[in-house]
Amino acid sequence: MNDRLPPAVTLRALTNRAPGTALPAATHTPAERVTTVSTSRPARAVTTEATPDPAGLVLTVATRVLAADGVVCLTLCRPAGGELPTWTPGAHIDVVLDGRDSADGGMIRQYSLCGRPEERDVWRIAVLREPRGRGGSAHVHDHLRAGDAVRVRGPRNNFPLRPAARHLFVAGGIGITPILPMVEAAEAAGADWRLLYGGRTRASMAFLDRLAPYGDRVLIRPQDAHGLLDLAGFIGPPEPDTLVHACGPGPLLEALRETCADWPRGTLGVERFAPVEATAAGPAEAFEVELVRSGLTLTVPPGRSVLEAVEEAGVPVDFSCREGTCGTCETDVLEGRPDHRDSLLTEEERAAGDTMLICVSRSCGPRLVLDL
Ligand code: FES
Repeated sequence: MNDRLPPAVTLRALTNRAPGTALPAATHTPAERVTTVSTSRPARAVTTEATPDPAGLVLTVATRVLAADGVVCLTLCRPAGGELPTWTPGAHIDVVLDGRDSADGGMIRQYSLCGRPEERDVWRIAVLREPRGRGGSAHVHDHLRAGDAVRVRGPRNNFPLRPAARHLFVAGGIGITPILPMVEAAEAAGADWRLLYGGRTRASMAFLDRLAPYGDRVLIRPQDAHGLLDLAGFIGPPEPDTLVHACGPGPLLEALRETCADWPRGTLGVERFAPVEATAAGPAEAFEVELVRSGLTLTVPPGRSVLEAVEEAGVPVDFSCREGTCGTCETDVLEGRPDHRDSLLTEEERAAGDTMLICVSRSCGPRLVLDL
């Protein structure tokens, strides 16, 4: 895990928002974490926890249990037993759900590891069925059973628990999955911490049993009983040596950004379920990409991504989400100015322009030179 402090996050006050935030049914508890985004990850550090085989591991579903209404918790292990790669709180794995780990539409989803890092022989993930999802969560719920084989890649950590004397955690729905190991790590480290955990109903909120020992450090706030989350009351005024970590639906995270507007830059770290809308509106026309290590120069036409052009040229490159959120395709930029369209890089990283996520980002000028 990379413990460097991240570049600062710019927190802008939004206007006219309620003190709490609703957790809309459509986004409150998505079944599949289609993306993982942190706005405050360590610079250029989409950290791979170990040195895994790029092809991943074929694991066995050891157990499958209902963790809450609509949430299944899977434990994954090696078929013959044995240790799995190490990971740190906030890490996720890619799960290849339909066996097609390919560029032509394999169903790859990212799920946070929600077990305990010291459990070396199993990984745990929790998946909420999302009726309006893209099919990943439905596949997990309908087809994955104990004893099944499943290919996974990673783990990777875009959302590390940064060191601080005091931590404030906010989780919305299935967003508890990366937060839970963070809470346990903060407790083990002797840090001062509190958790605000919201959900539609108490029955829909997973892992209440693991949180029960922490007493009033944890505020369980199902919306049907408590209404909107009181973010302002929970976060309070700025305090020294305090970090805020959050995972949940977009409206919750946006309200939290507003709540933290007066805090020092870099205080808030978030992980999202879905990509934010691209803010870059650079040119859409074709541009040239020189791949230095491969000795190739390619043209990226309108409507195609750099990643697609690179794949078509037969250059091996890692990818996963293809929507600018997981960080797998991050590539060093040696010349040129990228037109960032991802949901992961910090403002400082965008400004520096020496790295880009080639699955979505393009070029501001006619040419980019990449370390590929
Ligand atoms: S950011 Fe996930 S593949 Fe590019």
